[in-house]
Amino acid sequence: GQVGKDGYRHYMEKELHEHPVAIGQTLKRITDPASKRIALPEMPFDPAQVPRITITACGSAYYAGMVGRYWLESLARIPVEIDVASEMRYREPPQPDKGVALLISQSGETADTLGVLRSLKKAGQSIVSVLNVEHSTMGRESDLVLGMDAGPEISVASTKAFTAQLSVLAALAIDFARARGTMDQAREERLTASLLDLPSRAAEVFTRTKDIQAMAAVVAQARDVLYLGRGICTPIAFEGALKLKEISYIHAEAYAAGELKHGPISLIDQTVPVVAIAPSTILFDKTLSNLQEAKARGGRILAFTDAEGAKRLEGVAEQVVIMPDVEAFVAPILYAIPVQMLAYEVALLKGTDVDQPRNLAKSVTVE
Ligand code: G6P
Repeated sequence: GQVGKDGYRHYMEKELHEHPVAIGQTLKRITDPASKRIALPEMPFDPAQVPRITITACGSAYYAGMVGRYWLESLARIPVEIDVASEMRYREPPQPDKGVALLISQSGETADTLGVLRSLKKAGQSIVSVLNVEHSTMGRESDLVLGMDAGPEISVASTKAFTAQLSVLAALAIDFARARGTMDQAREERLTASLLDLPSRAAEVFTRTKDIQAMAAVVAQARDVLYLGRGICTPIAFEGALKLKEISYIHAEAYAAGELKHGPISLIDQTVPVVAIAPSTILFDKTLSNLQEAKARGGRILAFTDAEGAKRLEGVAEQVVIMPDVEAFVAPILYAIPVQMLAYEVALLKGTDVDQPRNLAKSVTVE
């Protein structure tokens, strides 16, 4: 049937508010209720024997895949290859024996991602896909579908499907790490608990709406915006910049913070706000020094951080949104929410057509 807006102004606003439920429902399906351990469906291959995973997707799903790469590499110690589908399709990279292809797609219909699925299948790879719409073309052509339970996503710009994708990928990394013996049980329990705690932490983010709106007032004045992240939060900077471009039509670029001095720093002045995705994890000090460099060049620093990070950013950041404290492991999932909310609030100030941005389609089914 028809999906309504339930009193929200836009589908995007409604779907942003559904992040906690989307994450919770998605995790529920893949958690054993008794043991509270991740319990994914059985793989059509032995995870301990997989020599490499090739991740492919488009748009926001690709950024989810970038986070997935960090998790699979660091937790499960598995080599990962990743590219956007439109490039992967024509690269003809050599495929290892017993390799696994991991496709990520909300719709399961994106033409380029489907094209890669088919060519990697031909190249002998096992096909695993992470899909919101399971009864889709990709769903039918996969060896294994890891479903999300984000519910229908109507807004053209992806929101809750993104955090649901990340939740599945985090669970997959834990599952592979267990199978490959690269993570002890104490660590597995800690990371799993942080994942299962996410719906509550995600719900808390909405108590920060006023701070996000204050940030949006600065961003809405800009013609160009720079998003910075580091490590596992770099893809969240990319997601933030993409969302801003898509729905507010403000030009935004995302960089790994360490690359700032290799080019983008020349763009910085008072008119180019810098949005930092900066939880106080082990890489925080490095991000802080990058932000100090930007500040010294007149840049206005706007930061998503936690209470500890906010203290350290005093005198550097003009505005902060203070996020709930979480394990670094789940930070990219949690921080995606306010970053998307920021784009939404800016679009409201700009008066754009939030749910149907110009020139964009929900699902790109032609090449
Ligand atoms: C379009 C949408 C994006 C989405 C991308 C991939 O560009 O506007 O929000 O991330 O397609 O879609 P998929 O359905 O494959 O996740």
